[in-house]
Amino acid sequence: MTEQSPGLDNLLNEVRTFPPSTDFAAQANAKPELYDEADADREQFWAKQAERLDWDTPWTQVLDWTDAPFAKWFVGGKLNVAYNCVDRHVDSGHGDQVAIHWVGEPGDTRDITYAQLKDEVSKTANALLSLGAKAGDVVAIQLQMIPEAIFAMLACARLGVLHNVVFGGFSPHALRARVDDAAAKIIITSDGQYRRGKAAPMKANVDEALEGAETVEKVIVVRRTGSDLEGEVSWTEGRDLWWHELVGGQSAEHTPEAFDAEHPLFILYTSGTTGKPKGILHTSGGYLTQAAYTHHNVFDHKAGEDVYWCTADVGWITGHSYIVYGPLANRATQVVYEGTPNTPHEGRHWEIIQKYKVSIYYTAPTLIRTFMKWGAEIPEKYDLTSLRVLGSVGEPINPEAWIWYREHIGAGKAPIVDTWWQTETGAIMISPLPGVTSTKPGSAQRALPGISAKVVGDDAKEVGNGGGGLLVLDKPWPSMLRGIWGDNDRYRETYWSRFADQGFYFAGDGAKYDADGDIWLLGRVDDVMNVSGHRISTTEVESALVSHPTVAEAAVVGAADATTGQGIVAFVILRGNAGASASGEEAVQALRNHVAKEIGPIAKPRQILIVQELPKTRSGKIMRRLLRDVAENRQVGDVTTLADSSVMDLISAGLNSGKSED
Ligand code: WTA
Repeated sequence: MTEQSPGLDNLLNEVRTFPPSTDFAAQANAKPELYDEADADREQFWAKQAERLDWDTPWTQVLDWTDAPFAKWFVGGKLNVAYNCVDRHVDSGHGDQVAIHWVGEPGDTRDITYAQLKDEVSKTANALLSLGAKAGDVVAIQLQMIPEAIFAMLACARLGVLHNVVFGGFSPHALRARVDDAAAKIIITSDGQYRRGKAAPMKANVDEALEGAETVEKVIVVRRTGSDLEGEVSWTEGRDLWWHELVGGQSAEHTPEAFDAEHPLFILYTSGTTGKPKGILHTSGGYLTQAAYTHHNVFDHKAGEDVYWCTADVGWITGHSYIVYGPLANRATQVVYEGTPNTPHEGRHWEIIQKYKVSIYYTAPTLIRTFMKWGAEIPEKYDLTSLRVLGSVGEPINPEAWIWYREHIGAGKAPIVDTWWQTETGAIMISPLPGVTSTKPGSAQRALPGISAKVVGDDAKEVGNGGGGLLVLDKPWPSMLRGIWGDNDRYRETYWSRFADQGFYFAGDGAKYDADGDIWLLGRVDDVMNVSGHRISTTEVESALVSHPTVAEAAVVGAADATTGQGIVAFVILRGNAGASASGEEAVQALRNHVAKEIGPIAKPRQILIVQELPKTRSGKIMRRLLRDVAENRQVGDVTTLADSSVMDLISAGLNSGKSED
């Protein structure tokens, strides 16, 4: 990894920088001194951040790292996470402030104030109590983006019950694995969900998942699609309960109990390199501290003034930390949208931003590139002047998408925060601070104040500026995972074994320092290709491809090659007009030459395949593993986590008919 490759220079050719305006800098929550403060005394710094929260009992020690890699933060402290996200805002006189502007896909809406949120969460907590739930139990939640998902998560937190949210698009098989592993006693779901203008079943999925399941005693069902799916919802008497009957009849009075700072808050499964998903465990005090701290400083959030919108799903960590816990702890007013971005039209997000005057918008590069594909004339029709901070998360954002985002969504002035973090880190770790950092398109830049990250070689030594290697986190942080549910060995092995001597957490990402020492994420290390002994990042080739005016999106994989070790195979979606006009072979040649020009002949893709769609998980991540299968003429592997499983058939058919080799 330490080897300096000529191929890694492309991203670093990006020299544009965008300092914050003086006005923005002057009003920003985070000032440059924040870095100095954290450097002066890291634990004292985190203690101060923890004071953003209301503690029932103060902690006696900030960090106990003696049992590394199992951290304890705010030792001896006690708090109630839901009280911090809800009740205290009502107590401080903000009960009438809207917490959630909810927008249903079919067009129905619901505004929920903090006072109403408190009632709903209390009723839900009482409902769970009536079913015998107690602190330490696990409740699984498979719900789409409806307010009940948030009520349910907060009700669990209020009771010290762990939630295990399973993304709504997961199959019965995947749901069952997550229910069994966590030994969930209760599942909360809905009858159905609206997606792309249609009602689709949800409960049927749960029913199938639960056949023969041993731990689940009760299934609570939110009525969402109602008569649109009437007759399709089967019912198991004694097990199944309607949410509106069970929760509707409860008292809105519930006194929260304080739990230890290290009391488990939730388990969230994430896929690993093996087939078995890992149950990432997060606890209470440290997690909430860092979620709130980062939401305040990275998004420059001002309670009572901003309207915030994170487009993630609660089924992923971004939804946990930046829809539920961070924003609500900070008394945000936020938009929660149920549906897809092109239902009923491709301007849906911009219409919502215009209506609610959204000022902070946090989304994923894959969606930004989709918006690019749909065309800038769509957002142009809406008033987006309320937007003042834009965020990106989930994968490296290529400079072209970054610039497009800034120009067409941010009116050429809203700072963009490219936030690097993981399910395991719990909260943002590397990101610009919008009022401090001169941002660079494509770089997450620098560890936040209080966080320490390094790029190291295989020898664990930090690489110099201009050098590339592996990203590690060399100091514990408050919202770090506390383990893998039920598997401490796997926890040690996965994250702490590679640099065991140094005690570094290995993030699994490749990264590079530029000449200024700013960090550029280069994708997972398993996505780094080795072509003729040269390491080339898939991200980098993708970035080069997307910088060509005809390309909307690209995915690159390294495929086994008898001569060069690996060869680069690119799958490319052309932009609207380019797709219709360019002849296949011509377009492919132009792109190969373009990549050669951008990065160097070594990075020239062996094959480029023009496709209509890329295989993506429901969270929008491109499944390179499947593309590698196609590129290496193997039978395509497990496609169950694909949003659209037919995509692979189309791609395979296309590849076999359209090879383009020199
Ligand atoms: C990638 C999502 C580059 C990275 C919060 C990481 C990123 C993985 C960025 C975690 C970013 C996330 N720039 N890469 N800003 N954000 N990643 O667990 O490879 O779904 O390891 O958490 O996404 O994905 P996860």
